[in-house]
Amino acid sequence: MPDVLLATCADLPHGDEDAELLTAALRRAGVDPHWAAWTDPAVDWSAGLTVLRSTWDYTAKRERFLDWVRALPQVANPADVVVWNTDKVYLRDLAAAGVPIVETAFAAPGEPVAFPVDGEVVVKPSVGAGSRGAGRFTADRRSAAAEHAAALHAAGRTVLVQPYLADVDDAGETALIHVDGRFTHAIRKGPMLPAGVAHPVQGHELYVEERIDARAPAPAELEVAAAALAHVRDRFDAVPLYARVDLLPSPAGPVVIELELVEPSLFLSYAADGGPDALSPADLLAAAIAARR
Ligand SMILES: Nc1ncnc2c1ncn2[C@@H]1O[C@H](COP(=O)(O)OP(=O)(O)O)[C@@H](O)[C@H]1O
Ligand SMILES: [Mg+2]
Repeated sequence: MPDVLLATCADLPHGDEDAELLTAALRRAGVDPHWAAWTDPAVDWSAGLTVLRSTWDYTAKRERFLDWVRALPQVANPADVVVWNTDKVYLRDLAAAGVPIVETAFAAPGEPVAFPVDGEVVVKPSVGAGSRGAGRFTADRRSAAAEHAAALHAAGRTVLVQPYLADVDDAGETALIHVDGRFTHAIRKGPMLPAGVAHPVQGHELYVEERIDARAPAPAELEVAAAALAHVRDRFDAVPLYARVDLLPSPAGPVVIELELVEPSLFLSYAADGGPDALSPADLLAAAIAARR
């Protein structure tokens, strides 16, 4: 019987691109891991620890996903963290805690959507992943932006409106990966919203293709990521097993666009080689999972 279940989705039965490194590291750590789709009724989740991984289809069925997570006897990250983190309205809490975030206006279905007079905006759902449902609109296309927001509302989504932070076009997004509260490595993700394109909210793809490179984070980025994780520790009185803090460059410095505590890609294969004695992020993650079992 496996003692750790790695939860994925039915479309990726063997997990995502992190799966091979993670599975091998877990075996080295003396753990017998087993991949299973969270929607598979045949799986017995009571066997041991469930680690959430590539459960990327949850955004279309969040309530069912949260019911499933709450019913698990042991899960990382914990259910209360997952409930909070599956809806980007958590950005409000980060802002209230003094963590710099992308300036964001929120509108639940039925609430009016306010657009700034000037500038390009991003309109996206508060429950979403893989860039689905996100659109970018110049100031002269406010009616298209409003239509996109209305479509998201019609699908039951809360809408987020943000300025388009154009520095991403050259500098990209920085994702800082943490294991057990410690920074392990970072990657650069290229811009995901080409001008004039809105990704459909109900498409067939699980995610929009991404361009990834290894990146060394700047001190200011490490500082913002640490502040975001400090809030998580204070809020839940727990150190998350894994965390990814996604930052965009802005004129005021790096700002949080997303804090990923549910099912982030951890880009384990992009970690710089720390030398013969250094543990890789995959090994650190495996050791942290083994310790929680
Ligand atoms: N305010 C913004 N400014 C610039 N780019 C953005 C903004 N919001 C989203 N994007 C682009 O869209 C992508 C997806 O948005 P994100 O908020 O990360 O949602 P998801 O959960 O779908 O990853 C980001 O990786 C980024 O490239
Ligand atoms: Mg993102």
